Amino acid sequence: MNDIPRDTLQEQTFYEQVGGEETFRRLVHRFYQGVAEDPLLRPMYPEADLGPAEERFALFLMQYWGGPRTYSDHRGHPRLRMRHAPFQVDRAAHDAWLRHMRVAVDEEELSEEHRTTLWNYLTYAAASMVNTAG
Ligand code: HEM
Repeated sequence: MNDIPRDTLQEQTFYEQVGGEETFRRLVHRFYQGVAEDPLLRPMYPEADLGPAEERFALFLMQYWGGPRTYSDHRGHPRLRMRHAPFQVDRAAHDAWLRHMRVAVDEEELSEEHRTTLWNYLTYAAASMVNTAG
């Protein structure tokens, strides 16, 4: 059993299908370039250096889509709604977040199907992170 190559037994993960770590790192880097310039979002990020936040988000997405479990090795269970509780995620923050994410997703050369899958998840996740009315 163990000498049968894994790929012959199992479908590739979404993570692998879209290009693995490189793709997610590029996506998240592009997203944070937008955040860095955003007058509403930038002040929400507690650290002066956005690098560590970028790293956490990239590792989270890689894990979510079937890549290495490094995020949880470092951070434990994601509990994303709880982790966002200290921040005022209102409609405006949600919209700004998705706007920067859209730019980043559109710059990736993904198939239509992969793009749709990724975008549907991100819009769903962003809506579920809203914790402040207005
Ligand atoms: C809807 C608008 C959102 C806003 C305004 C927002 C804002 C923030 C802020 C200010 C942080 C703290 C930065 C840090 O120190 O890591 C953070 C962390 C994080 N966010 Fe968001 N976020 C949003 C949506 C999302 C969504 C949709 C996801 C997942 C798809 C996500 C995933 C994460 C992750 C993984 C972390 C790091 C958690 C940790 O390990 O501490 N965020 N977010």
